[in-house]
Parts: sequence; C-alpha cells; structure tokens
Amino acid sequence: MAKITVIGTGTMGSGIAQASLSSGYDVTMIAHSQKSVQEAASRVESGFDKAVSAKAITQEQKLAMMSRLSVSDDIASSAGSDFIIEAVSEDFDTKEGVLKSAEKYLGAGILATNTSSIPISQLAAGLSRKDVFIGIHFFNPVPVMKVVELIGGDSTSPNTISKSSEFVKKLGKTPVEVKDSPGFIANRLLMLFINEAARALDQGVATKEGIDTIAKLGLHHPMGPLELADFIGVDVCNDIMLEIFRRTDDKAFDPAESIKRLVKEGRLGRKSGKGFYDYAAKA
Ligand code: CAA
Repeated sequence: MAKITVIGTGTMGSGIAQASLSSGYDVTMIAHSQKSVQEAASRVESGFDKAVSAKAITQEQKLAMMSRLSVSDDIASSAGSDFIIEAVSEDFDTKEGVLKSAEKYLGAGILATNTSSIPISQLAAGLSRKDVFIGIHFFNPVPVMKVVELIGGDSTSPNTISKSSEFVKKLGKTPVEVKDSPGFIANRLLMLFINEAARALDQGVATKEGIDTIAKLGLHHPMGPLELADFIGVDVCNDIMLEIFRRTDDKAFDPAESIKRLVKEGRLGRKSGKGFYDYAAKA
C-alpha cells in the first residue's frame, strides 16, 4: 500500500497526514477551499517541527517526508488511493456528502471515516460500497497517541477490517476493534468524565484549576478534563455529547451548562484562544 488520501485539513486531518507520511506513505490531503490548501501543508509541517525540536527526526527527514505530501481542493485527486480517510467536521450531513463524493474515486481501496461518535452503519446507509467502508478513529495528537479504534458497520467485510488493522499497525499504533455503538469506547468514557468535571465546576465544588490538578496529580492524567476539553475543542465535545445523548437518552451525556455556554459564546478552547481557560492571556 502506498497512497493515503485524507479529506479534511483540521487538527485530525493534518495529524493523520503527518502520521502516514512518517510511516512512508504518499499522502494527498483534500481541502474544501484554496485557502485551506495553503494552510494544510503548513499545519502538517508545524507538526513535523515539533518532532524536529524533540530531536525525534532531522530537518532533512522532515523535508523528505513533506515532499511526499500533496494538497488539492479537487476530490478527484483521491483516485488510486489505498485508503481514503474522511476527517471533516463531526456533522452527519457533512460527512455523508463527503463520503458519497469520495466513493466515486475509490477504486480498489478502502473508505474510512474518522468519526468519533456517529454510527458507521448509519453513515454507510447512503453508500454503495458498504463492504469497504469502516470507522478508523484516531486520537489527538495523532502522531503521539498510540491507539486507534476500528469500527466495522453491519456490512463491513472481514477483509476491510484486517487491512485496516494492518494499516494502523504500520503507523506504529495499536488497533482495537470496537462494536458500532454510540461514542464507541473512547468517547463513551471520556465525555462522561469531561461532562462531570464541568458539572462539578458549575456547582462550585472546586475551581477549574483545582479540578484539573486533582485529575493530574491524583489520577495521573496528563491533562485535567477541562484542559482536555479545551484541547479537543469545547464545540467538538459538545457535539459528541449531544450525539451520544440523542442516541442513548442517557442524561449523563447532556452537556453541562458551562459547556453549552462556552459554545454559545464562541469560547471553543485553544483554537479560539479561550475556552475554560484563557490562552490569549498566557501568550
Ligand atoms: N508530531 C510529533 N511529535 C509530537 C507532536 C507532533 N505533532 N506533538 C507533540 N509531539 C511530541 C513532542 O515533541 C514531545 O516529544 P518528546 O516527549 O520526545 O519531547 C511529546 O510529543 C510530548 O509533547 P509536549 O512535550 O509538547 O507536551 P506534553 O508532554 O505536555 O504532552 C500531550 C502533550 C501529548 C498532548 C499530553 O498532554 C497528553 O497526552 N494529553 C492528553 C491527550 C489526550 O487525551 N488525547 C485524546 C483526546 S480524545 C480524542 O482525541 C478522541 C476524540 O474523539 C475526541
């Protein structure tokens, strides 16, 4: 397998591109506008710069990997890929539209979605090549996180699952098969944790710093739940919680008041400069 196409140039799309380039694949990124085409390559490059700073790779290696990256705003450029991986925003209609367009250029490859919560069988319903469609759910930051959830839909073939598993291993990550159910495993666990932390904050049980410090020093988490919500994107967490809440009717996933308020105010976390914390003030 040699060519990977990643549709979407955000945090996840650029992370998947970087991880694939690092493992020797040629990568094509598909952007939705000319402006995003220009931003995509610099986003991937700044990911590699972190690896250069950490002395994990040299500048020459970075340039060699970047030379295998191409970016286009034409989805037809995905033709001939071994994997086409959709990583656009967590919205059913957006993902379905992108997947239907990508399917036309699939050839003998596999079509994957990086959805964090939408059922695979439901996304597959509008596709004609259901047997080669699968959920490959990466974690942020993709180049660093070592596990990937693999989610087959009702019609995903065993061959698609085993090829996807091989691909994930080639990226140096551990694939874990998960049933097609709301939030899969990662977000079923994580969103409860983040939501409960936000509820405790809303109830005045502790400060945000206090909650995060307890999680870091007492539970040995690398980030506290509120810091992590800012890192993932408060809007992304809100969308995932709502998706799971709608499908399970479990009130524990109904976003806390502070999460709803931050989304309404456009305080989406690190990417917008403010979320639970104020990053502009730290800069
Ligand atoms: N490429 C290569 N290496 C990178 C990198 C990149 N893009 N970004 C960071 N790194 C490397 C750094 O160079 C550094 O390497 P060394 O240890 O060799 O020096 C290492 O990763 C750690 O990075 P930093 O030193 O910058 O920062 P840190 O030690 O504070 O760790 C973190 C940052 C890895 C993000 C850590 O805080 C962490 O693990 N946080 C939790 C992240 C998490 O839970 N992610 C899952 C979110 S849930 C999800 O993604 C699923 C979903 O559907 C919402």
